[in-house]
Amino acid sequence: MALTKIILPSVLPSYQGKVRDLYDLGESIIMVASDRLSAFDVIFEQGIPHKGEILTAISNSWFQWLTNVKNHLISTEVKDFPAPFSDFDSQLNGRAVWVKKTKRIDFECVVRNYLMGSAWAEYKKLGTVNGEQLPPGLEAGCRLQTPIFTPATKADEGHDINVPFSAMQNSLGKELAESIRKASIELFERVSQQLATQNILLLDTKLEFGLLDNELILIDEIFTPDSSRFCQISEWENAIEKKIPVPTMDKQIIRDYLEKIQWDKSPPPPALPDDIIERTRQKYVQIQEIVKCITE
Ligand SMILES: Nc1ncnc2c1ncn2[C@@H]1O[C@H](COP(=O)(O)OP(=O)(O)OP(=O)(O)O)[C@@H](O)[C@H]1O
Ligand SMILES: [Mg+2]
Repeated sequence: MALTKIILPSVLPSYQGKVRDLYDLGESIIMVASDRLSAFDVIFEQGIPHKGEILTAISNSWFQWLTNVKNHLISTEVKDFPAPFSDFDSQLNGRAVWVKKTKRIDFECVVRNYLMGSAWAEYKKLGTVNGEQLPPGLEAGCRLQTPIFTPATKADEGHDINVPFSAMQNSLGKELAESIRKASIELFERVSQQLATQNILLLDTKLEFGLLDNELILIDEIFTPDSSRFCQISEWENAIEKKIPVPTMDKQIIRDYLEKIQWDKSPPPPALPDDIIERTRQKYVQIQEIVKCITE
């Protein structure tokens, strides 16, 4: 059974994201990952069983492994949480983290090493990615010369919008924007190298940062199948050779199904067949196992 609604006795969430419920405690937050599934920005009735626990485990593993980068974690153990949350072990164990509340930087810090998704869509139309010219003649899903930083605004409602790096510089100041860009690319490269040892490509990822006492900290979730595109190296090579879409290890199975049934991408969402949910769950589990191998 998928846990799409988390009900805790005596407390109500301050904010519900597409996947997480947040309990704001002033200087800190209890962040609880549900099994909710969203596709094309619509939340589905059905969830993916254990997705919240899988995402939390993957993200925690990376946070703990990337020791030289500051992150928002205070504790991943329910028994350490402040009252009354410490009493909710049965609902929260493995899904919840107690984190430092930061002043969130309202940009999605996206790094891409492959031409996929919205970057491919823009390139195909205009020959640019986030307004920057790329060499002509690139193919869908191809590897770029170096990882590129392609920020997007964090829209409260609806779709995030890709913006040029200069927009981020204008909004945050050159120095802060540049330190975020540098940190994002460095993280991307470190994690890519590790995944490559397990025959996995990191195609792109989305990071979020916050400020606490003027210090930049990594927040939210990192290098999970909800925030990143992963692909088996052999499957990527096969897709490029045959000029077919690159099969990524995430909810792509669901997006493909929704395209096949020609859903108009507005609520209400359609019911999903059990095997589509199960195949998606297996992709999340595969990534969890690979990350465990790297970080343990
Ligand atoms: N340490 C932190 N300080 C402040 N905000 C945080 C922190 N960690 C995560 N967040 C925010 O908590 C929310 C997590 O919820 P969830 O992942 O469900 O959101 P989402 O639907 O993906 O994105 P959003 O709600 O931002 O559109 C995000 O808005 C994220 O930016
Ligand atoms: Mg999120």
